[in-house]
Amino acid sequence: MKRQGLVKAVRDSRFPKSIFFGYYLALLLLSGVHVALLLGMDRANFNEILVIHVILIYWALVAGGLTLYTRHQVRKTYEIPMKRLADAAAKISAGDFSVRIDPINEREKFDYLDVMIEDFNRMTEELGSIETLRVDFFSNVSHEIKTPIAVIQNASEMLKKDDLDEEKRREYINTITSAAKRLNTLITDILRLNKLEHRTITPHVSEFDLCDQLVQSALLFETVWEENEIEFEADIADERKIITADHELLPLVWNNLLSNAFKFTERGGTVTLSERSENGKIYVTVEDTGCGMDEHTAKHIYDKFFQGDTSHSTEGNGLGLALALRVLQLTGGSISVESEVGKGTKFTVILKE
Ligand SMILES: Nc1ncnc2c1ncn2[C@@H]1O[C@H](COP(=O)(O)OP(=O)(O)OP(=O)(O)O)[C@@H](O)[C@H]1O
Ligand SMILES: [Mg+2]
Repeated sequence: MKRQGLVKAVRDSRFPKSIFFGYYLALLLLSGVHVALLLGMDRANFNEILVIHVILIYWALVAGGLTLYTRHQVRKTYEIPMKRLADAAAKISAGDFSVRIDPINEREKFDYLDVMIEDFNRMTEELGSIETLRVDFFSNVSHEIKTPIAVIQNASEMLKKDDLDEEKRREYINTITSAAKRLNTLITDILRLNKLEHRTITPHVSEFDLCDQLVQSALLFETVWEENEIEFEADIADERKIITADHELLPLVWNNLLSNAFKFTERGGTVTLSERSENGKIYVTVEDTGCGMDEHTAKHIYDKFFQGDTSHSTEGNGLGLALALRVLQLTGGSISVESEVGKGTKFTVILKE
């Protein structure tokens, strides 16, 4: 048996051959002693009854010794490690994922049981992190849902008042509408992500023009760049670029990258969308001259519900890039980011032609 990371092959038996050879030799030797005892007692003219007793006692001692030795070996080799594994499994089934078992031998002397213990530890660690993710996910979802619901509740209570002027009334209604919209986006995104995470293929594949799709996505933000006085530049090198992919999934990527770029860029800044193809690959970049992000943020942007810039946390749920990454994984594409605090951010998506 060979294992990754182990230089030597792993022993595939817990009992070395020398033990069986030892048993064989010991039994031969002990039967020799039996013969020697017989000859000795015969020469010393021991009476027959005494001889039988001596031999019986001798073999009783030998059988007892061998049984005890075998029991010790079985306990050491199987019982103790199996008991440790059983105790650990019981703790895991009770929800304790911090259990780890120490290997029995030094790494150079690893056998299959040590390997099994290592695999067991790795499995427990994985289970633990999945459990943490699940718990985090649910607490994030609950938190994200609770906030707009509290806003809606508050604003509706205020609307109940009789002495409200028209301006206030409209303000509360707008608050309710935007909180409901936020809830709607959140739930749509969670459902989408859940659906995409359980999918391993993209079933609705068709041929479409990527350049046209990029332009259409950008046009959705026309009012945003006009209202916020942000300069938008499109640098689409190909006139047409027909690709075969799920044409409903990729816009999730473009829309989120563009919405992030506009969201994190101040008035007077620039957002650039570019497309070019080279050596069978298509490069789409979304670049902005916005606030940029630090190393910690850049490391976690694809985590569900992560939002680095808290000043914009009311605009979105931190699911956009998690969704974008999943879409690209399903499409066979990739995404990378370069960013500098205070200077701006550039996302690059690479797709196969
Ligand atoms: N262009 C950018 N400039 C600066 N920070 C960015 C940029 N794009 C993403 N980020 C950081 O990454 C975080 C995660 O982005 P993501 O798109 O996943 O979530 P979001 O935009 O906050 O919410 P949602 O996309 O669900 O509306 C953002 O909150 C922000 O901190
Ligand atoms: Mg986003």
